[in-house]
Amino acid sequence: MSTLVRDEAETCTRRVRLTPYKMMDKVMIIELHNYIFTVHLAAISVQLVLLGLIPATTANPEPRLLFVFGDSYADGGNLPPGSVSAWHAPYGMFRPGKPVGRFSDGFVATNILAEALQMPSPTPFRVVLQNASISGGVNFAVGGSGVTHAFGAPPFQIQVVWFASMVLAGLFTPEDLNRALVFVSVVGNDYAAYNGSSLEGYFPLTHEVPLLIDLNLRTLYSLGARNFIVSSISALDCLPTATASSGFMECEKNATVDAVIAAHNHHLGNRLENITRNLENSSVLYLQQTRSMHYVLNHLPEFNLTEGLKPCCVGVCGSVDVTGNPLYTVCENPERHFFWDGIHPTEAGWRAVVELYKRPRFTRFARSLSAWVDSLRP
Ligand SMILES: *[C@@H]1O[C@H](CO)[C@@H](O)[C@H](O)[C@H]1NC(C)=O
Ligand SMILES: *[C@@H]1O[C@H](CO)[C@@H](O)[C@H](O)[C@H]1NC(C)=O
Ligand SMILES: *[C@@H]1O[C@H](CO)[C@@H](O)[C@H](O)[C@H]1NC(C)=O
Ligand SMILES: *[C@@H]1O[C@H](CO)[C@@H](O)[C@H](O)[C@H]1NC(C)=O
Ligand SMILES: *[C@@H]1O[C@H](CO)[C@@H](O)[C@H](O)[C@H]1NC(C)=O
Ligand SMILES: *[C@@H]1O[C@H](CO)[C@@H](O)[C@H](O)[C@H]1NC(C)=O
Repeated sequence: MSTLVRDEAETCTRRVRLTPYKMMDKVMIIELHNYIFTVHLAAISVQLVLLGLIPATTANPEPRLLFVFGDSYADGGNLPPGSVSAWHAPYGMFRPGKPVGRFSDGFVATNILAEALQMPSPTPFRVVLQNASISGGVNFAVGGSGVTHAFGAPPFQIQVVWFASMVLAGLFTPEDLNRALVFVSVVGNDYAAYNGSSLEGYFPLTHEVPLLIDLNLRTLYSLGARNFIVSSISALDCLPTATASSGFMECEKNATVDAVIAAHNHHLGNRLENITRNLENSSVLYLQQTRSMHYVLNHLPEFNLTEGLKPCCVGVCGSVDVTGNPLYTVCENPERHFFWDGIHPTEAGWRAVVELYKRPRFTRFARSLSAWVDSLRP
């Protein structure tokens, strides 16, 4: 299954040829580890207090906060500047016009979802550590991560520890946390990072990955969060990395890949259903991301898109050779492409996917995104 999602930090997989550029990705991710991951919790708390983030005390209902966890589909720029491709041209060429660490030509899922929720985009945690400003919440997601070792990026459970450090520092009231929305995107890196030789090895992961997502959600619940929006897996069969061999002509037809996708989404759905039934006052919205991506790819004109499987940025997107020549080509009309690079949708692609969450059939446990928000306690 060498065709599954490979995120930026793919250096850790033995299948990938290590170029000096890719080596740098790995080093930078390890640096991020040292920067945040191994920092003592108390030290983070002290840092947050020094930044002047004063514990909230207000009793009036404030706008809801948005906390985000997961991978590159959600990352707002948490990897260190200059490190991964997302910090190099042509990433960010549409918005804001330069690379800012988002794996897209513009916005990623977090930004478009926040817009749909009429909330500001949450501040990346890396920026929070440098700057007291928290506009509407915190984005803890890191490109390359999952819930297992996945590429060595700080996994969901470490991102939860960062969140816990802020909660324990008293930066949010219990009411803030109760009312906050949590968005979780853990959509394939654990499978992409799988090293085993046997195809059967993917199937235990379809239990393990949902189990670990479940445990992390329960930890967030115990810290006071109640409202969870969780994505199903990416359309792994249709990613440009999977369709390149067919010249981006059709999604991969592979029974094993399909079975892994179905098993993951099924087991995750069961666990989310149990959470929403059994944890008092909790509410979960299960985003049918796989279905949404497939739907958009099959109905491009409906979303003003003309290019489905062929990404806008083809080649080693974001990389140049020793003489500075790009190792990629970029399309002229990213707003017409669903995919940006080998793995990630364009901003236009994300707009189409999130648009579907407003319709019936693309969410579970509530009829649509807005029906779910309306069902939440004020
Ligand atoms: C399905 O994908 C797996 C993993 O990439 C591969 O080993 C297997 O040969 C594929 N099966 C078919 C029928 O193409
Ligand atoms: C820090 O926060 C201020 C607003 O509080 C903002 O104007 C500024 O751009 C931020 N700096 C960085 C590096 O994000
Ligand atoms: C895959 O192999 C690499 C190198 O041997 C190792 O660092 C990594 O932890 C392995 N990943 C998994 C998910 O086992
Ligand atoms: C469902 O959730 C309850 C309450 O947290 C837990 O005791 C039970 O083990 C869960 N059941 C399954 C099948 O995970
Ligand atoms: C659930 O909500 C009710 C009403 O606001 C509150 O009294 C109760 O403490 C909450 N329980 C939990 C576990 O959040
Ligand atoms: C598609 O483009 C047309 C014409 O520019 C516009 O009126 C319409 O709102 C667009 N639809 C979507 C879904 O963006």
